[in-house]
Amino acid sequence: MRLSTSIPLLSLAAAAEAGTLSPPQHIFSNPLSSSSSAHQIPTPYESAVLGRRILALTPLGNLATVFPADDGQYGVEENRPDGLGGMPHSLMDYVADCEDDGNPTFLAINIETTFKNVRDGSNVSLAQQWTPPYPPDKRIKSTTTTTSTPGLLSKLMNWLGLGSDDDDEDDSQPKDLVPYSAANLPRFSLLGYVEKINDVSAAALSECFVNKHPDAKYWLPGNRIHEAEFVRLVVQQVYWVGGFGDRAYIGWIPVDKWNSVTREEWESVSLPGEKKGWKEWNVETAGDL
Ligand SMILES: *[C@@H]1O[C@H](CO)[C@@H](O)[C@H](O)[C@H]1NC(C)=O
Repeated sequence: MRLSTSIPLLSLAAAAEAGTLSPPQHIFSNPLSSSSSAHQIPTPYESAVLGRRILALTPLGNLATVFPADDGQYGVEENRPDGLGGMPHSLMDYVADCEDDGNPTFLAINIETTFKNVRDGSNVSLAQQWTPPYPPDKRIKSTTTTTSTPGLLSKLMNWLGLGSDDDDEDDSQPKDLVPYSAANLPRFSLLGYVEKINDVSAAALSECFVNKHPDAKYWLPGNRIHEAEFVRLVVQQVYWVGGFGDRAYIGWIPVDKWNSVTREEWESVSLPGEKKGWKEWNVETAGDL
């Protein structure tokens, strides 16, 4: 199914914009479809378009596998503890979107635990989240840091000898490493299995992958250090959390919708904070939460 031109992506942007300005009424679920805010929630397909943009623009993800039931074979070889069978294992990996069809591309290193689990038959799940390249104009503050009393964090920083005398917001404050109000930013989990890519030229895949990850040129297939190959995650299920449930879709996206999003479509939308001067949401009323 293609997004017809009558489905207004512009209204999606408008709804997202309107949504960013008020505190959330539904945080981790959608309202009933009859309620007044339900009409401005993007559809699963519009969410798929946003998700495909996240996949195209986001270089990292967490790849989860499951240890095989019979895990003894690696015990001696790599000092692996006993009893890992059935345990989930999730680790950051480099992601690229070389096929542009919704199935992410990885450069699998054979000695990585993730890809050992894959060889032993594990399915996989890739989690990615949107991280805005720019901070919002105003951050939501905890009540402790808005008063003249130093907040717990600055007390701790002072105790560690890392603090400064003044408590004003300036360069001496510790930088915030949390990507803004991340609970209201879109993220997804792609569920499926991994297969070797045989039908795309290795040169084309290498070029695409190194474009996204310049350092990966040292461990491309054929390198002298590690055995490596390009693989795809064949997506079978898509779970999406677009943000707070009163303004974003939360739930499963049919995989045919995920796969049928075109480059033209994901290039025509934008995600929160792609441009400077965006708002997390209404900072004045954040205390109502
Ligand atoms: C992988 O997932 C499929 C469902 O898509 C399931 O049938 C299969 O048993 C799973 N494989 C393993 C090793 O759990």
